[in-house]
Amino acid sequence: MIKPEILFLKQEDVIAAGLLDMKNILEVTEYTFKMLGEGKVLQPTKIFMGMPDSENWTSYGMSMPSYVGGEYDIAGFKWAAESVYNATQPGMPYGIDVVILSDPKTMYPKAILDGTITTAMRTSAAAGVCAKYNARKNSRVAALIGAGVIGRTMIMAIAESVPSLEEIRIVDLDIKKAEDLAKEFEGKYNVTPCSDAKKAIEDADVVVTETTSRKDFIPKAWLLKNATVIQMEAHAFEEEVLLTADKIVLDSWEQMTHLDGHLLKGLRESGKLTREQIIQVQELATGQRKGRENDDEFVFCGTAGMGSVDVAIAYKMYLSAREKGLGTKLTLWDDPLWV
Ligand SMILES: NC(=O)c1ccc[n+]([C@@H]2O[C@H](COP(=O)([O-])OP(=O)(O)OC[C@H]3O[C@@H](n4cnc5c(N)ncnc54)[C@H](O)[C@@H]3O)[C@@H](O)[C@H]2O)c1
Repeated sequence: MIKPEILFLKQEDVIAAGLLDMKNILEVTEYTFKMLGEGKVLQPTKIFMGMPDSENWTSYGMSMPSYVGGEYDIAGFKWAAESVYNATQPGMPYGIDVVILSDPKTMYPKAILDGTITTAMRTSAAAGVCAKYNARKNSRVAALIGAGVIGRTMIMAIAESVPSLEEIRIVDLDIKKAEDLAKEFEGKYNVTPCSDAKKAIEDADVVVTETTSRKDFIPKAWLLKNATVIQMEAHAFEEEVLLTADKIVLDSWEQMTHLDGHLLKGLRESGKLTREQIIQVQELATGQRKGRENDDEFVFCGTAGMGSVDVAIAYKMYLSAREKGLGTKLTLWDDPLWV
C-alpha cells in the first residue's frame, strides 16, 4: 500500500532551504511570470474573506490556488492572512501565511510550509521585476514607504533589481522602525531612514509603497515627472497618479480589479480604467510587451500578489529542503478508512 509522506517545513526550515536569497527569488518570480504568459500556469481568481465584512475587515483570509506547469509540475495553494490585531501584539506578524503543495496527479499533499516569509520575499520580488523593466537605467534614488515586513524585503529586491541606485530611503510614520531597518542593512546597501514621505519622494526616481494605509496619501505633485512608482497595497497613490501615467503595469488586471476595497476595483467599476490600458508583468517577462521605453515616461506599477509565485517558490524550497534533509515528515493517515 502506498503511504505517502508530507514534509512539514516550519519557517526556520524554509529559511535554511534558501528562502532569503533574493537573487534566486527574483529569478523564480520572473520565470513564473514568464510561464504564466506562456499559458503554463493555472491561477483562478483568489477568494477574499474579510472579517467582520469585506469593507471593514480587521482580519482576513485569502485563498490562492494555483498549478505551475513546465518543469515545475506542481499544484498548490496559499492561505494568505492578515490581522490588524497582530500589529498591536509584540512578536506577532501582521501577515501569517501557509502554503500547501500537492502532487498534481494524485493530489496527495507533498508539503506544508510556513508561507509568511515566502510572501514577503515574493511580494517584493514582484516589485523588483516591475522595477527591472520600468525603472530608468540611470535611477539614483529610491524611496520605499513602509518599514514593516515587506519594507525589509523591498530593500533587498529594489537594491538587486536597480543596480544603479546610490541611495534607498526608507520611510515610516514610526521613525524608529525606519531607523532599525536602515541599521540592519548597514554595510550592505546605503539605506537612510526618514519620517517625511513628501521629502523622501520629491527627487526619487523610484517610489515603492508597502504601507498599511487605508487611504490614498501620495498626490501626483509630490512625484518626479519621469518617476517609476510601484504600489503594493490597496491604497497609497491618489487616483490621478495612475490615470495620468504613460504606462500602467499590473501583475494581474483580472485579480487586482476584482479585489474588494482596492483602488483598481473602483477605477474599473467607474469605467475610468479599461483592460486595454494595462500591460501585465507576464507580458514583460515573455517579451510580448515593453515596459519603460525612454527616460521621459511616468510609469505606474501595481501588484496584488500571485498564488503561482508562492507555489513556485515553495516548491523550490521544498526540493532544496529535501536535499538538505530539513523538516518533519508527517502523514495524513496510517491506514485510510473508507477507500
Ligand atoms: N501586493 C502584494 O502581493 C502584497 C503581499 C503582502 C502584503 N501586501 C501589503 O503590504 C503592506 C505592508 O505589509 P507588511 O506586512 O509589511 O505590514 P507591516 O505592518 O509589517 O508594515 C507596514 C508599515 O507601514 C507603515 N505605515 C502605515 N501607513 C503609513 C504611511 N501613511 N506612511 C508611512 N508609513 C506607513 C506602518 O507604520 C508599518 O511600519 C500591507 O498593506 C499588505 O496588505 C501586499
